[in-house]
Amino acid sequence: MTLRVCLWLVVLATVFTLAGNQDNHVDCAEPWKVCVKEGDQAVLRCDVSALMNGQSEDDLYIRWVTNKGEVCVLNEGKSSADNGYRNRTEIAREKGTEYQYLLIINKTTFSDAGDYFCKLQKLKGRGEDVTTVHLTIQGHKNNVSVEFGKTFKISLPMTEDVRLHFTSASSSTQADVCAVEQNTLRPGRAYASRAELRNGELWLSNITFADEGSYSVIDVKTENIRNTVVLSVRGQDKNWELDEGGDLSISLCSLNSSYIEFRGGTENSAAERVCEVENGTVTHPAKEYLQRLAVWNGTLILRNLTAKDHGKYIVRDQMGGRDVLTLTLKIKVKPQGTHTTGWSMIALPVVPIVLTILLAWIGKIVLERCVWRTPTS
Ligand SMILES: *[C@@H]1O[C@H](CO)[C@@H](O)[C@H](O)[C@H]1NC(C)=O
Ligand SMILES: *[C@@H]1O[C@H](CO)[C@@H](O)[C@H](O)[C@H]1NC(C)=O
Ligand SMILES: *[C@@H]1O[C@H](CO)[C@@H](O)[C@H](O)[C@H]1NC(C)=O
Ligand SMILES: *[C@@H]1O[C@H](CO)[C@@H](O)[C@H](O)[C@H]1NC(C)=O
Ligand SMILES: *[C@@H]1O[C@H](CO)[C@@H](O)[C@H](O)[C@H]1NC(C)=O
Ligand SMILES: *[C@@H]1O[C@H](CO)[C@@H](O)[C@H](O)[C@H]1NC(C)=O
Ligand SMILES: *[C@@H]1O[C@H](CO)[C@@H](O)[C@H](O)[C@H]1NC(C)=O
Ligand SMILES: *[C@@H]1O[C@H](CO)[C@@H](O)[C@H](O)[C@H]1NC(C)=O
Repeated sequence: MTLRVCLWLVVLATVFTLAGNQDNHVDCAEPWKVCVKEGDQAVLRCDVSALMNGQSEDDLYIRWVTNKGEVCVLNEGKSSADNGYRNRTEIAREKGTEYQYLLIINKTTFSDAGDYFCKLQKLKGRGEDVTTVHLTIQGHKNNVSVEFGKTFKISLPMTEDVRLHFTSASSSTQADVCAVEQNTLRPGRAYASRAELRNGELWLSNITFADEGSYSVIDVKTENIRNTVVLSVRGQDKNWELDEGGDLSISLCSLNSSYIEFRGGTENSAAERVCEVENGTVTHPAKEYLQRLAVWNGTLILRNLTAKDHGKYIVRDQMGGRDVLTLTLKIKVKPQGTHTTGWSMIALPVVPIVLTILLAWIGKIVLERCVWRTPTS
């Protein structure tokens, strides 16, 4: 590879990394860079001490403005906010300080983002610039866990045009899942068959481990990230009870290549292979299952269950090595099964014999008494 190609790759990689971490590379540590989550309170500081010469607070006239207009003023000790900041914004002196004034904006919205200029208005003359603070409004981030094969739902604001951007947790995959413009869904190519818009939510069905990662709702106009949902996928967990002699049907969840494992019902039973399924056919079945396994229409069938089949069945994706399903199976043993013999084999013929002897004996006693009593009475 030539040096030029290498350099290009580095540049491209950097661009992609930055694009994927739009919400991470904002530096919020400096006092002139304030970052808050949408809806939270923002506090912007203005230190006027250097420009004061012995004036009292009553003489102060502090203004905060943006390029769009006035935000809030402090005049003769009274604070009043303007425009969209009314009722939620004030200027107040920081407790324990003399010349630190705070602009407090409550219930921030994405449109509050931008540069804020603090100006000190003197009695005579123009206002003097004191400080500039850049305010960033960040979207909320939350975690969601969805079971393998189920549907992931994420709410989208219907008032603005947005797109949903996916960044994989395990690979370098990035893609737009969809765009929603004027309430119309435009799914990305890879999502066309799985994405659906329902009551302001995007529904993404048939979730697999490859869907794990973060989903950012991005305002198309401003490219602001409104919120981010981090999706993790967990294997299915099922508990079934089936009759002895019945069939067990396990859906292979459209896996191309799966490994099925069995653990017996007791605590320290070892895991053993049942079989593998490749592209819809059973491969490498264990000897004891050889005659009883079949795959039909994406479903593995284990026929003629016996009490020995009681335990846990684990379906693993051969591609990622993760458990897609853990099925705990209980076998209902039929009461008239062959092993209920033992006692009943002996009891069945013996009971009538004993009863007959007992009845005969009672009959004999009754008869003897009657015969013996009759002549005397
Ligand atoms: C906002 O303030 C105005 C007066 O400036 C008042 O009439 C109004 O009720 C307030 N709104 C709310 C939601 O507090
Ligand atoms: C902003 O919120 C704080 C805390 O909830 C409250 O004490 C303050 O009065 C609010 N300011 C305005 C101007 O609404
Ligand atoms: C989401 O999960 C990550 C990693 O597991 C954790 O660090 C973070 O605190 C979680 N966030 C929320 C909002 O639960
Ligand atoms: C995808 O999900 C839908 C609805 O949840 C379901 O009907 C369909 O069978 C699933 N497709 C596959 C291939 O699993
Ligand atoms: C499974 O196989 C089908 C075709 O045989 C292919 O289109 C698909 O990409 C495969 N899926 C995985 C996860 O390998
Ligand atoms: C299963 O199908 C995939 C793609 O269709 C193919 O690459 C693979 O070799 C097949 N595996 C078996 C065991 O037939
Ligand atoms: C295979 O399974 C699917 C969904 O489970 C079902 O819709 C379809 O009818 C089945 N095909 C056959 C041949 O039974
Ligand atoms: C089911 O298993 C029992 C015991 O292992 C066997 O006697 C019986 O023939 C089997 N039935 C079928 C239909 O395979």
